[in-house]
Amino acid sequence: MADRYLHLTGTAPGRFLTRRLGLPQPAPLRRWTLETPRLDGPLLHLTAGDSAITDELAKALAATGLTVDAQAARPAGIVLDATGVTSARGLTEVHAALHPVVRSQAPGGRIVVIGTPPSSEDHHQAAAQQALEGFVRSLGKEIGRGSTAQLVRIPAGAAPGAAESTLRFLLSPRSAYVSGQVIELTTAAPDPVADQDAPLAGRTALVTGAARGIGASVASVLARDGAHVIALDVPQAQDDLVRTADRLGATALPLDITAPDAAARIAAAAPDGLDVLVHNAGITRDRRLANMPADRWAQVIDVNLDSVLRTTDELLTSGTLNRGGRVVATASIAGIAGNNGQTNYAASKAGVIGLVRSLGPRAAAEHGVTVNAVAPGFIETKMTAAVPLFIREAGRRMNSLSQGGLPVDVAEAVAWFAQPGSAAVNGQVLRVCGQSLLGA
Ligand SMILES: NC(=O)c1ccc[n+]([C@@H]2O[C@H](COP(=O)([O-])OP(=O)(O)OC[C@H]3O[C@@H](n4cnc5c(N)ncnc54)[C@H](O)[C@@H]3O)[C@@H](O)[C@H]2O)c1
Repeated sequence: MADRYLHLTGTAPGRFLTRRLGLPQPAPLRRWTLETPRLDGPLLHLTAGDSAITDELAKALAATGLTVDAQAARPAGIVLDATGVTSARGLTEVHAALHPVVRSQAPGGRIVVIGTPPSSEDHHQAAAQQALEGFVRSLGKEIGRGSTAQLVRIPAGAAPGAAESTLRFLLSPRSAYVSGQVIELTTAAPDPVADQDAPLAGRTALVTGAARGIGASVASVLARDGAHVIALDVPQAQDDLVRTADRLGATALPLDITAPDAAARIAAAAPDGLDVLVHNAGITRDRRLANMPADRWAQVIDVNLDSVLRTTDELLTSGTLNRGGRVVATASIAGIAGNNGQTNYAASKAGVIGLVRSLGPRAAAEHGVTVNAVAPGFIETKMTAAVPLFIREAGRRMNSLSQGGLPVDVAEAVAWFAQPGSAAVNGQVLRVCGQSLLGA
């Protein structure tokens, strides 16, 4: 559904009027296109404290394809390496590095602060590193003009190149609707990527709920990145499913993901195994708990959580998920913040977060597979178009970017998790919500 307010504030009279009334000023977000695959300007690489990863970080930044320029007057991206900040005093250097340059950043810019996991043995280091989280979340709320800010934690002993795919994603138009996020990397070495324009070439990806909405967009972005896609949706959605699949050269798999033999049928559709499994199918059956019949509760838990657990377990243990595989599940900010009338939905989505955090490390150790989730905020789809007008408007504006996201914003995040280069990204839940105030 069109965001008419965003259109209005894009006109001179609309901007004048809404400014005078003190209303939100959403900046149009620049997303990835073939013609504009990168940020529009140079990158500034700054350091606070004594960093042990300066050279490694410089290599990863060079790999983004952006020009790194220490004198950039109008940087599109700013990366502050704060891994060496180990005390409250050291935070002075964070201010000193960013204060002079933050105003000069180009609209739609990216700020990425690099930290390291807070220590359980050194409470001064832990305080300083945790401080970076509050800092970045506040910066995301105040920079405006479509810019974003994130914190990436790189552990000591990280493998060379471990952070590269994450920096590529965050320092690009692909992360347009991601802000105020903390991403904690592991020490795992990235799997090699032969062609950065087609990182999923030769890989097979299954996407559930792919007939429409976010799932169709995920299928499309994974196909763009070179994957052969198997698009799954309920048999009732077959027409839309086949249309989506035909457009992408994908295979259509009409199947209800709650069917007892779902995993076996997925395995049969992927004789060479699966490299990427995206659990996107989801439903809502909203009612307050006092009015909610057991069947509405059970349907939501079954589609959104139980089928995700069952199929993941079966596809992992049967070896259908190849080594180096990626599981990406779909949570929601409702699963983080809770939502009136959505006890069933929020429980299912919080359950997805529990699954990801618990299984991620074990799946990596035992199967070489990562498990992550996206947690979308307000995304413009049929699901949110059905929300009553005033609640819809509130949902759109109550975030740092003052607008709803698009399905492609979620899809780009899924594609980043799915990359071979993202082996160090595991057990993470990335909110794709424009830094929604809900559950912040
Ligand atoms: N749209 C949002 O703002 C938003 C926000 C947070 C989370 N999400 C989550 O993102 C995912 C996609 O949302 P959307 O807005 O694109 O929804 P949508 O309703 O437009 O699409 C969901 C798709 O899943 C399919 N599906 C439902 N039950 C299925 C089953 N049993 N087996 C196979 N396929 C099934 C549907 O047929 C449909 O094609 C869902 O998990 C949803 O909970 C969406």
